[in-house]
Amino acid sequence: MDKPGEQVSCLKWVGLIFVVCLIYSILRYITLGPEDLSQLPLYVMNKALSWAGLATIGLSRLLRQAVARKRAGLIGALMIGLHVVMSMLILKPEYLRKFFDSMNGMKLTGAGEMSMLAGVLGLGFLAWLLWATVEQLNSSSASKGNASLLPWVGRAVLICGALHVALLGWDNWFAPEKWGNYGHLPPIKLLSFVTAVVFLILRRRSA
Ligand code: HEM
Repeated sequence: MDKPGEQVSCLKWVGLIFVVCLIYSILRYITLGPEDLSQLPLYVMNKALSWAGLATIGLSRLLRQAVARKRAGLIGALMIGLHVVMSMLILKPEYLRKFFDSMNGMKLTGAGEMSMLAGVLGLGFLAWLLWATVEQLNSSSASKGNASLLPWVGRAVLICGALHVALLGWDNWFAPEKWGNYGHLPPIKLLSFVTAVVFLILRRRSA
């Protein structure tokens, strides 16, 4: 039986993750960085939502209670869903110049295309997890125990997320001198990559 206290504390963790990601994004891109407040609703919020979504999905795999795990997984998937819609709106050279190749008719670069493929695959794995969750909720006979639904699919979402951000941002990761315009704070793509790897390594403790 899932204890209500554990579900509340899962929501507190998810809220904390989102607030930390949002404050960091505002600090790096607006307070210390080159963007102004008008870029908060879409460009900067997209960074906070994508990082928080990835971290929440990672956290959900560690939760012992099935209800808390599903709740965190659904909130993480919702954040990534919002990230995808927001990304579609800003995926243009005016916002994300370095993903486009001016020598090739402003098409996406090879790394940009591969990154988007990793993102789309990650979204596909997330949809698979959502499908399995809905199926389990609808079926009366299926086991409603504490075991994870398709644990390897959750891992695949994190792996796709890690590849997606690495392909977009790795060239900045080993050149801290390039972070000067952003208050010397590390890029969110690097932090997102580390987040995905940490959650891939961590294992859920048995009850
Ligand atoms: C159709 C699927 C997807 C598309 C089109 C997409 C698009 C994008 C774009 C354009 C960026 C760069 C944003 C920027 O630099 O401001 C980005 C960054 C990011 N994406 Fe995705 N994405 C998709 C799926 C995913 C998935 C499934 C995850 C995680 C599970 C994810 C996590 C992230 C993270 C953490 C960032 C780094 C945030 C940043 O520094 O901007 N994305 N994505």
